Amino acid sequence: MVSNTVSNDKRPVALVGIHATAPTLALLPHMTEPNTGQPGRGRRILAATSALDTPFLAVDEQVLDANIARMSAFAATSGLRLRPHAKTHKSLILGQRQLDGGATGLTVATIAEAEAFAAGGFSDLFIAYPLWMTENKAARLRAVMARTHVLLAIDSVAGAEQLASLLPGAPVLVEVDSGHHRTGVAPELAGDLGAAAGAAGLEVLGVFTFPGHSYRPGGPSDAAGQESHALAVAAESLRSHQITPVICSGGSTPSAGNTDSTVLTEIRPGVYVFNDAGQVELGVATMADVALTAIGTVVHSNGAKAVVDVGSKVLGADQPAWISGGGRLPDEPEARITALSEHHATIDFSNASRHPVAGERVRIAPNHVCTAVNLADALVVVGADDVLTHWPVTARGANT
Ligand SMILES: Cc1ncc(COP(=O)(O)O)c(C=O)c1O
Repeated sequence: MVSNTVSNDKRPVALVGIHATAPTLALLPHMTEPNTGQPGRGRRILAATSALDTPFLAVDEQVLDANIARMSAFAATSGLRLRPHAKTHKSLILGQRQLDGGATGLTVATIAEAEAFAAGGFSDLFIAYPLWMTENKAARLRAVMARTHVLLAIDSVAGAEQLASLLPGAPVLVEVDSGHHRTGVAPELAGDLGAAAGAAGLEVLGVFTFPGHSYRPGGPSDAAGQESHALAVAAESLRSHQITPVICSGGSTPSAGNTDSTVLTEIRPGVYVFNDAGQVELGVATMADVALTAIGTVVHSNGAKAVVDVGSKVLGADQPAWISGGGRLPDEPEARITALSEHHATIDFSNASRHPVAGERVRIAPNHVCTAVNLADALVVVGADDVLTHWPVTARGANT
């Protein structure tokens, strides 16, 4: 049976005090060097990688490290644990860098991702997904759990009972819907589900939500408020069933900077590590904060129009209704990607500073960096000294 005796008081009084004056994410240091001009970051990345055939994904390590440091500092000063979602990078090297920066564990979406990170020596993983357990999945999870601490998710009584029958005693969080309307139970029902899960033999440690409705204009702050309210209601619902919510986990990249640390104990942003065109258009990041870009070559140009060899098989195809095109060019912010096919990006440079000609290279920020990374075998990392390193996307395609 569940032992729910651990106190939820992981935020010392001193840190609650700090929260009142803690810097917001936006105020913490951003990369300020412009992306254009000599010898701007963009030109430096293009020059350092000029010997490589296009297309490929390049990472500016200085921007990456600044992104990691900024989110870590925000979490630390807010008294929040940081458990980054590793589905963004799927990289053991990058996951370790996040832990070195202060993250307390990683979030993953699938058992296969958990297997990859456990095999890489990671000792604390949360599979933030209401898995439907089978004999085979349970056997795989038992093997992972033998070497690493794995927290699981439930969002139905049937799912919890199935899980309990195959992995008795497994530690779980109850997922609640804070407005994204994907998975999760209504916050006020968290206690009923937690009690049923406890009765079935799971260890209920708290609640979590994904405020994915932060991905729309105006979403970042609205969603953070709804996340906080939903988790507070859900935590109270657990308490009313004599279950102490040790963990209240939330977070997306857009909403992270508005997290209510009087309710949440942990955040799970993923995209922040690279940022992307989506975060820029939501106003959450600047072009200078974009660490990962696809490098492509102009293969066709006609006046203000150019076609680059970076298509949806490199960038991914995500294009929400509110976004301005198929990706953004950090070095030409006024250019617009008007069409994406598998191997072509058609770009309108009418309002840009110049019209690139065939043979030139450009950098493109994907709309959604996670889907771009999942299409690459490796990331080309450009260090501060312009030395190139290849980081394998170890958990690429680890979707099962
Ligand atoms: C359950 C869950 N937690 C955290 C995240 C990370 O949020 P973001 O992608 O905005 O960084 C996601 C993203 O899909 C998610 O599904």
